[in-house]
Amino acid sequence: MYKLHSTCRACGAKSLLPVIDFGFQPLANDFQAAADARAGAAPLKVLYCPACTLAQLSVVVDPAVLYSNYPYVTSPSQTMLDHFASLLRDLEEERGGTLGKVLEIGSNDGALLKFLESNAESVTGVDPAANLVELAEAKGIQTHRTNWCSAVADLLDCTYDTIIARHVFAHCDDWWDFIKALHLVSHANTVVAIEVPYAGDLLDKNQFDTIYHEHLSYVNLRAVNSLLLETPFYLAKVIRYPIHGGAMLLILRWRTAGAVPVPSDSIDSERWRNLNGRAREMMQSLRSMVKVLGGSKSYRVCGYGASAKSTIWLNGCGFTHQDLAFVHDVTPQKQGKLCPGTDIPIIGDRASLETCTHAVLFAWNFAAEIIAKEEPLRRQGLKFIVPVPELKIIE
Ligand code: TMP
Ligand code: ZN
Repeated sequence: MYKLHSTCRACGAKSLLPVIDFGFQPLANDFQAAADARAGAAPLKVLYCPACTLAQLSVVVDPAVLYSNYPYVTSPSQTMLDHFASLLRDLEEERGGTLGKVLEIGSNDGALLKFLESNAESVTGVDPAANLVELAEAKGIQTHRTNWCSAVADLLDCTYDTIIARHVFAHCDDWWDFIKALHLVSHANTVVAIEVPYAGDLLDKNQFDTIYHEHLSYVNLRAVNSLLLETPFYLAKVIRYPIHGGAMLLILRWRTAGAVPVPSDSIDSERWRNLNGRAREMMQSLRSMVKVLGGSKSYRVCGYGASAKSTIWLNGCGFTHQDLAFVHDVTPQKQGKLCPGTDIPIIGDRASLETCTHAVLFAWNFAAEIIAKEEPLRRQGLKFIVPVPELKIIE
């Protein structure tokens, strides 16, 4: 199901240092019904490259196992719509006008392309998940069902004015081929926009729960500049966004004479090692809190948001349905399934939520929106427990 990966994906260095080790863990999005087989576990270990400061997983799980049928659907939340509006504004500014012909790599259910459609000459998606391509096509978004690679780019036989890849670059094993494929479908004025979580935010805000098998790399600018050094692209601009706890949009352009890349940052290995210790403390704190609450007959605790991040918490804390009665989630693809590695069911109905006194907010990246939305339930007494960046009960 997985293979070992011991050379740096960005600069090719061979001597990588182990900085985080969470042992064997289930796949974070392996939501299955109780009667169905699960994919199993794989090592979750982070290696650090002293040469370019990239952090990456020690293994690569077979993408066919991870992505053929993918339960993560781009959230239809207001937070995401606001983000799409920011992206559109920033991309138009980069282009100096309309978006032209748009290609999105990892286009999920077509939500972003649908949003951009009226501002573009054409929109085309590429995504490997059959279930998501079906949803995109139902919205009228033309989508090629495949992983992104140079062989696919060759077949497209077309160039695009704007190329977007949101939260897919960190999922990609072969960055050289990814960049080669971008070159095949771009022209001298193409704006390539790659959105990735920023490793600095992960470290600063204790987001260790975003470390899971799909996220092969934890990206910073020095690593990106190292990677691009031998390619036709350079890092022309970086735009920061608050989405998903802190992301950056890497604007890549064809290198021209005199092009100056965005200056590199650098992340030292000690910061990663510190996070390893902090993750254990944070899991112990949540575990103690939930056990104390569960020990009292007056309280009933559930989870809120069956995010991939929730899998890391639930398995790290060793929670069962005795600890958390269920995890509430609005995603139809997840409802009726179990949280990976556990016996905790995912339930979408409001009545169950109303029976709880406390909900651990595993979708903490949507905290402001969810806490505001659930104001009526909070007035009835529901308290949110927010685990990141620090364990906190919202009274
Ligand atoms: P994500 O953090 O990986 O985007 O996952 C968030 C999960 O939370 C996703 O499964 C959808 C769910 N969710 C809700 O159940 N209710 C909500 O209001 C929001 C914003 C998300
Ligand atoms: Zn490196």
